[in-house]
Amino acid sequence: MRNKVTKAIFPVAGLGTRFLPATKSVPKEIMTLVDRPLVQYAIDEARAAGIKEFIFVTSRGKNALEDYFDHAPHLEADLIAKGKDKLLEVLQSTNMDSGEIAYIRQHKALGLGHAVWCARRLVGEEPFAVILPDDVIAADKPCLQQMIECYEETGGNMVAAMEVPADKASSYGILDVQEDMGSLVSVKGMVEKPQPGTAPSNLAVIGRYILSPQILRNLENKETGAGGEIQLTDAIARQIGSETDGVYGYRFNGQRYDCGSKAGFLQATVAFGLDREDLRDDLAAYLNEVVAARKAAQ
Ligand code: UTP
Repeated sequence: MRNKVTKAIFPVAGLGTRFLPATKSVPKEIMTLVDRPLVQYAIDEARAAGIKEFIFVTSRGKNALEDYFDHAPHLEADLIAKGKDKLLEVLQSTNMDSGEIAYIRQHKALGLGHAVWCARRLVGEEPFAVILPDDVIAADKPCLQQMIECYEETGGNMVAAMEVPADKASSYGILDVQEDMGSLVSVKGMVEKPQPGTAPSNLAVIGRYILSPQILRNLENKETGAGGEIQLTDAIARQIGSETDGVYGYRFNGQRYDCGSKAGFLQATVAFGLDREDLRDDLAAYLNEVVAARKAAQ
């Protein structure tokens, strides 16, 4: 019987330089899509997939993130006193139980692989998930849940995968596909940020992973890869060809927004705004107005 995946690592120790100057004092993961910080979307997705332990790899300057997950008794008392039950419900839905969430520090931003490795003692000898909160995925069935359902059949290591345009491949980890089985592909190679024109496919790795504890051992030697960083992709690629612990890509159903980039964040804001019943009509009317005004000005 395969171990259930109940632990997830959320690496949030990056510098977030693409959002400077905001990220000088606001962690990227706390920035809000409509009215919820990115990290709340990630937690909700993990919970829906059956995750019980939430491990955050943080760094200097990310205190706002820890505060966000703390209970807020003064706010709760205020909302109770004013009879604002709906808001109270919203607030309480973000509470985490004691012991459910753990924080560990990455002392230097040495790369995503290193951030994941920092959580090794909290993960132990179990399969675990990794969620990058700046990849926000809108889906009927949350992406990690889709992956865990598939993983229960395959085992091994699984990365979320998505087709990207050829000229964008050099921004991603790219899969070299051995066998394409539809949603699931088996992988015979992985390359992090390939040089333009050298990508083995257009199937890119997106920020959701289910990994075996062997990946943490593979990260032990702290070898650097693309960009001089310790890359998670390289540690996963070492498992390719393993009989019991191979590598799969999973083409998820859903729309991914790269909220680590300004354009992606703005697109997600519009999409999530339009998805909200209370905002949809006004926002759509405003967008139409803006587009019409721009056209008229051209
Ligand atoms: P990014 O590549 O988006 O880097 O990291 P970044 O530092 O967050 O942002 P930019 O590129 O400077 O704007 C992808 C994910 O890996 C985490 C980040 O927090 C993000 O969730 N990460 C990256 C770490 O936790 N530690 C690292 O050393 C590097």
